[in-house]
Amino acid sequence: TVLILDFGSQYSHSIARRLRECKVHSIVLPFDRSLEEIKSIQPKGIILSGGPGSVYEHSAPHTWKQIFELGIPILGICYGLQEIAYQLGGQVARGTKYEYGHAMLTVIEQSDLFRDVPSTFTVWMSHGDLVTELPPSTVPIAKTDNCSFAAIYMKPYLYGLQFHPEVTHTEFGLQILRNFVVHICHCRCDWTMEDFSENAIASIRQRVGSAKVIGAVSGGVDSTVAAVLTSRAIGNQFEAVLVDNGLLRKDEASQVIHRLRDTCGVQLRYVDAASRFLQLLQGVVDPEEKRKVIGKTFVEVFEKEAKSSDASFLLQGTLYPDVIESSSHLGPSVTIKTHHNVGGLPEKMNLKLLEPLRDLFKDEVRELGTLLGIPEESIYRHPFPGPGLAIRIIGQVDEQRLEILRHADSIYIEELKRANLYRCISQAFAVLLPVKAVGVMGDSRSYEDVIALRAVETVDYMTARWYSIPSSVLERVSSRIVNEVNGVNRVVYDITSKPPATIEWE
Ligand code: XMP
Repeated sequence: TVLILDFGSQYSHSIARRLRECKVHSIVLPFDRSLEEIKSIQPKGIILSGGPGSVYEHSAPHTWKQIFELGIPILGICYGLQEIAYQLGGQVARGTKYEYGHAMLTVIEQSDLFRDVPSTFTVWMSHGDLVTELPPSTVPIAKTDNCSFAAIYMKPYLYGLQFHPEVTHTEFGLQILRNFVVHICHCRCDWTMEDFSENAIASIRQRVGSAKVIGAVSGGVDSTVAAVLTSRAIGNQFEAVLVDNGLLRKDEASQVIHRLRDTCGVQLRYVDAASRFLQLLQGVVDPEEKRKVIGKTFVEVFEKEAKSSDASFLLQGTLYPDVIESSSHLGPSVTIKTHHNVGGLPEKMNLKLLEPLRDLFKDEVRELGTLLGIPEESIYRHPFPGPGLAIRIIGQVDEQRLEILRHADSIYIEELKRANLYRCISQAFAVLLPVKAVGVMGDSRSYEDVIALRAVETVDYMTARWYSIPSSVLERVSSRIVNEVNGVNRVVYDITSKPPATIEWE
């Protein structure tokens, strides 16, 4: 195990993630954990993360000076480097300017940390403070134009980096971290997703004991993996609940039921609340109002189910990126959309939270899901918003319009899969517009609905590029939709990226 002491950087969990790529197990703990706890973990190495503070400020976060005397290799990153300098008798000061972005690093002295990396390469910087004077017996091992102490070394195994090796913008960043864990900490590098799975199952069992767990599932990869993992851990002490809000896609509920119950052996309760949701949505056209009504109703329905199950834990498929997005100091300053996840349930339910995927990134959840034998359709399903088709029917939502959209959307997705494009696209869906267009069918005039097709490519869903589907595929989708879906006579293609558009239309 490598211990990552977190000084509040948005990248701390990226360090953990990179170490998993090196097949090394790590844990992230807040900087202020006791010396006893740190020692009890018996880490093979300690990484001090970056952070927004300044070491010389009154309220700055600090770790114990004694960790430098434990005989454990230490790597300080950004704030972590400054913490080393501060604790061991160097000087840190505000730089003349805040340095953010790429910088060219020059290695000035070979060391285990820079094994198999070139003598100059690009690194990612993000700091305002600088080490201005090194602690005794410490030497600089790399520099940039703005920073003479971009990497430092103190015998036998104390290292500090002013740049961030854990972000992908730093070339050879992974190699540097690998060098630290392999050549400096002498970790075995044999930790795999199987180990993660076994640990997670064991810790669910230990935490839950003989109590009962309930959790909402949507059919998306996160809730599915969380549900299957939990069911492997505690069998029928766990019950998954699928709330059908009537806003799901064609055959979605039956497919989710089949995959979870029959293929994965999860105990699943199906709750058909469609009529309740649709009734409450009557006359609601404002997107935020739709979200509010759907979110509130979901909580009411789920709460009732939870009460009748005497569960004491609530399972949620929260991933690490959800944790960052909702943390206050990084939160967006304006609300564009009140994204609520199916899982976003209030604390008043008096249930303890179980979040076994909290440390993982999306691709790791997919890897875990594959390992657990979950069908590919669930693992690679495009994300689907909690409010479902309600925010893809612009304006009034009713059964008839839902039927039109379901049919058009299923044709679109079917054709993308047939053309082997589904997995290349991050998210694709059809939208039903609140306008009618004139057309000609046979010899008669038609005046019918318009379907918009959306397809985007993105890594983080914060920004996205519209995806250029080959025109032959678009043509097929369009001709099938106007021919097969009653009430639609026109299909348009959305060629807007995010920003300025968002992925969903509402
Ligand atoms: P936008 O439209 O904001 O969407 O670019 C980014 C991602 O979030 C999904 N999305 C939602 N998910 N509840 C959800 O659970 C919501 O209200 C919601 N709105 C958007 C969207 O599908 C895309 O993946």
